Amino acid sequence: MHTETTIAGIRGRLRDVRQPGTRIGLVPTMGNLHEGHLSLVDKARELVDRVVVSIFVNPLQFGPDEDLERYPRTLAADRDKLASAGVDLLFAPDLAEIYPKPLSRTTRVAVPELSDVLCGASRPGHFQGVATVVNMLFNILQPDIAVFGQKDYQQLLVIRRMVEDLHLPVQVVSGATLREPDGLAMSSRNAYLSDSERVRARELYRTLRWSRDRIRDGVTDYASLERQAADRLAQARCRLDYVAIRQAADLSVPDERAGPLVLLAAAWFGAARLIDNILLDGAD
Ligand code: PAJ
Repeated sequence: MHTETTIAGIRGRLRDVRQPGTRIGLVPTMGNLHEGHLSLVDKARELVDRVVVSIFVNPLQFGPDEDLERYPRTLAADRDKLASAGVDLLFAPDLAEIYPKPLSRTTRVAVPELSDVLCGASRPGHFQGVATVVNMLFNILQPDIAVFGQKDYQQLLVIRRMVEDLHLPVQVVSGATLREPDGLAMSSRNAYLSDSERVRARELYRTLRWSRDRIRDGVTDYASLERQAADRLAQARCRLDYVAIRQAADLSVPDERAGPLVLLAAAWFGAARLIDNILLDGAD
């Protein structure tokens, strides 16, 4: 596996491998890799000939009071994991390579509406930061496909919408959420949890599953179900951001003609803001 830290360097490598018919897949990450990330790598390897992973902790998607400074950076360990997983190229640029100008003067990509609800409502500017850096990565690496986790469901929809609206020649593929044995979704931010918070954090997925079962039982009063789910989460002594039942296609509030649904939640357990979701028709 080759590691490149510059745009010119990675473009040179890709020029060498890009033959007619050779398909390139990208898995964008912020590093501190776990099995969830590596499952996206496996998925990419099934679909393409060459897999590129990017590691870049993107300051543009962090709010001023968020965890940018203490976000875990573990490049050497990440590199070993990616090499063992059969990744061909690692792109690990530093800040100035991606943002040579001050962030306040950098061009941005905005995906309206989808970016403003749920996580976007509590993290203003977050999805603009995500869309901007992912668009840059697509431009730099020009992958045929890019793999994103369902774990960050709203992010996945934002990226799909950006690709559609900007006519980007990239196929967006989603990968299932990998979980710890008790159901907690794997996340770099789980490292912030104390032992007792870690125990309580499993209530996030449990509550989503409980809500899904109620809907499968025939419950259609979603507003009331959201309140009951919030009550359950309150017992886990977290600071709830939201628990919501939405249309899976666009996160709109379901009406009587609703299509497939997604249940989403975000909550603070101590210093960790955890998110999770479950598709109503999904297998998990
Ligand atoms: P990061 O949080 O590092 O996640 C990288 C990718 O891994 C995302 O597509 C995310 O959905 C996926 N992922 C995270 N936890 C997962 C799990 N438990 N199972 C399966 N996939 C999982 O998401 C980002 O980075 C950034 O916003 C990024 C897209 C890289 C832009 O900066």
